[in-house]
Amino acid sequence: MRDYPENYTLNDVLLDWYDKHARDLPWRIPPAQSKSGVMAEPYRVWMSEVMLQQTTVAAVAKYFHAFTKRWPTVDALAAAKDQDVMGQWAGLGYYARARNLLKCARMVVSDYNSEFPETRDELLKLPGIGPYTAAAIASIAFGRPECVMDGNVERVMARLHNIHTPLPAAKPELFSKATALTPDLRAGDYAQAVMDLGATICTPKSPTCGICPWSCACVALISGTAAELPKKTPKPVKPIRYGIAYIARRTDGAWLLERRPDKGLLGGMLGWPGAEWGAKAVENPPVSADWQVLNAEVRHTFTHFHLRLSLRVATIGNKPPATGDFISKNAFDPETLPTVMRKAYRLACTQFDDN
Ligand code: ADE
Repeated sequence: MRDYPENYTLNDVLLDWYDKHARDLPWRIPPAQSKSGVMAEPYRVWMSEVMLQQTTVAAVAKYFHAFTKRWPTVDALAAAKDQDVMGQWAGLGYYARARNLLKCARMVVSDYNSEFPETRDELLKLPGIGPYTAAAIASIAFGRPECVMDGNVERVMARLHNIHTPLPAAKPELFSKATALTPDLRAGDYAQAVMDLGATICTPKSPTCGICPWSCACVALISGTAAELPKKTPKPVKPIRYGIAYIARRTDGAWLLERRPDKGLLGGMLGWPGAEWGAKAVENPPVSADWQVLNAEVRHTFTHFHLRLSLRVATIGNKPPATGDFISKNAFDPETLPTVMRKAYRLACTQFDDN
């Protein structure tokens, strides 16, 4: 490589780049410190990596601060109430992660004496920890040379080696290319460096190859194919599902909400009552009332479908509802609702006098 000593490897070059350009992230030990042996706390690495699954760094930062402030240790988190953790996670999506976060914290406390295990294989036994997260914790918190493979790393490898096989079929090949590059030393910094490279330079659209530390070795750049890689097998078109949410308020200002079952979509989260969402909207009011139909609907996209949610609002008396529980005006915090339910709340709120 130009400007580098002959025995320099690709990962030496990338680590040099990382030393100068590492992103300043709240859960990260900066390279100046990690080089002198300071390791990130496993609890913070685990928390950030679980949050970063399917979620951007920008969206995670606020949640990471809130969680680590409220529950600074795995013992504190393990002792938290389920509903508090679910409420704090609200808005971050993929709620199974929050349920598993709590299960995992409790297992680390009960089965591992409150210390995260160090190896990928042992980490894989914990709830919510898959191959990506296990490798990330083992390398970033414990310095083990594990290959950390996320979407950024896949893109970087596809371009570096000019691999045109579409994803997901290309995954094993991309993984073996990434494994071959993973160094024994500074494994955590290296893992984070490849992810940073993918997030800041080797971006999905318009990669800035002119400033890439790996440009001299990038086969896709030489071939003029960087921007079109990685190829992807087209995803099936998402269907549209329809539903109705019933937003009821008692005369004393309490809201009628229900906690969704632990299993399934938005599992364990609070929501507005209504029938299951499907090909057609089904009326299923939780209580008989003079329901007012809103002429605006909530639109929200989940992993496998788009949702169109119609709203009904009513002020109701003391008659017990068929489902749900009342939450008093003062105890109700809309920030603890998942995004789709919060959108419904915001639309419906305009209909009640004191909002
Ligand atoms: N994306 C997910 N985890 C990351 C990390 N530790 N550093 C940079 N980007 C990431």
